[in-house]
Amino acid sequence: MQPVQHSSQTDQVALNAVRLATEEDIPAIQRLINANLDKLLPRTDDEIRELLPTWWVAVEGDEIVGTCCLEIYSRKIAELRSLVVSEKARGKGYGAALVKVATQTAEALNIRQVLVVTSTPEFFEALGFGTALDEKYALFWHGSGSVKARADSNG
Ligand SMILES: CC(C)(COP(=O)(O)OP(=O)(O)OC[C@H]1O[C@@H](n2cnc3c(N)ncnc32)[C@H](O)[C@@H]1OP(=O)(O)O)[C@@H](O)C(=O)NCCC(=O)NCCS
Repeated sequence: MQPVQHSSQTDQVALNAVRLATEEDIPAIQRLINANLDKLLPRTDDEIRELLPTWWVAVEGDEIVGTCCLEIYSRKIAELRSLVVSEKARGKGYGAALVKVATQTAEALNIRQVLVVTSTPEFFEALGFGTALDEKYALFWHGSGSVKARADSNG
């Protein structure tokens, strides 16, 4: 019995399934996002197109089963957004692989912080994310008046 080896093989298969998205992938990416609007904000085709240099897909056979992107705001901070894996492909490591590729890219670009806004913190905590960085915390401004911050502003 070699659980560690099996796990790393599964991880490697999922990592190998991740590639940069292309223009042709946009309809499939939209289908994945639009099937999960309870967790994700909708994206326009133009937004996705603009982010293609840091937008990835996970491919199983000839089907796109997962996606995510990294929105780079500055040399300091980027946000991981639009992470989704199709229901039938969950639990095979694609979600973790997409996060790994995105965070490795941020690291390679010397971006110091990667932010995620999520209702599934456990998933990200297991991948090295935390609510505090050393002694520093990320806090939300709740808004006031007409500019109320929205509680449903997931990735
Ligand atoms: C969250 C999501 C992307 C995970 O994708 P996935 O491919 O099933 O994840 P993985 O197979 O890579 O799982 C990696 C680990 O996280 C765990 N995990 C998966 N989904 C989880 C969840 N919702 N909550 C907590 N842990 C989770 C898995 O059990 C696994 O743990 P293990 O390594 O100990 O076995 C997927 O469930 C999804 O698309 N959800 C809907 C959209 C969403 O919530 N996106 C995130 C919003 S920011």
